[in-house]
Amino acid sequence: MQFYKFEQYNESALALKGRLKGFRPEILLILGSGLGFLGDEVEDPIVVPYSEVPHMKYSTAPGHKGQFVFGKLGGRNVAVMQGRLHTYEGWDFDDVSYPVRVLRLLGAQTLLVTNAAGAVNMDFSAGDIMMITDHIKLFGVSPLCGPNVEEFGPRFPDVSHVYTPRLQAVARKAAQALDMTLREGVYMYFPGPQFETPAEVRMARILGADACGMSTVPEAVVAAHCSMQVLGLTLCTNMCAGILDQPLSGEEVMEIAALSSKKFSALVRKCLESME
Ligand code: HPA
Repeated sequence: MQFYKFEQYNESALALKGRLKGFRPEILLILGSGLGFLGDEVEDPIVVPYSEVPHMKYSTAPGHKGQFVFGKLGGRNVAVMQGRLHTYEGWDFDDVSYPVRVLRLLGAQTLLVTNAAGAVNMDFSAGDIMMITDHIKLFGVSPLCGPNVEEFGPRFPDVSHVYTPRLQAVARKAAQALDMTLREGVYMYFPGPQFETPAEVRMARILGADACGMSTVPEAVVAAHCSMQVLGLTLCTNMCAGILDQPLSGEEVMEIAALSSKKFSALVRKCLESME
């Protein structure tokens, strides 16, 4: 872990501010595997590659471009992360969650975090969208490990409601308006990059998980720590290992993400439009 200091987050925020010509992002939208296309739908985009932000790491994962796109989406001022950082790329938890604090300093009060994940819940199907109601993370340290940065929040933050109930209500309504089924459930973090074993998937189910994925939790925890509201949307690209008698592949994840892209982007837009 790097144990970034407040001054470093501030330097990154100032560097971005210099590029934004007065634009003030309200919502940070992090796009998961195969969902980066939403960044191309931003109006009046200002694009800043991660490599041009001091202290920030870059994305190496397939389908993750590695740039911020600032502009309007669903009528809201958004900062889109077109490509996220993952711990399986070799980054630490505080590298992965770094941009959340930077965007907080730029004024964003909401995190809309998306991901592709495998479904653990047998009632789900590939292509389903699940709203995250809570999470489980047993692997690795907390992204808040190390000296607490008091400017962002307390040493021992309450995480009873990481995923803001008010925003969950917004997503339910948005799905209803679109006549779309929205699953709800618990997302369990696994470090990857290998998919889970069938035994791990059975464990996840016993522990109360509905989907397993390799992202999202570090960013959501850091957002909760600095009092941001969080909405988490998961695209279940596959049933987790051992459920169906077929091997999993990264290509399948991308394929299903592409097939579901219209529906996913409609839901994200509707949520953005209805958030206050
Ligand atoms: N497991 C973890 N992450 C994933 C999966 C999975 O089955 N599918 C897409 N991302």
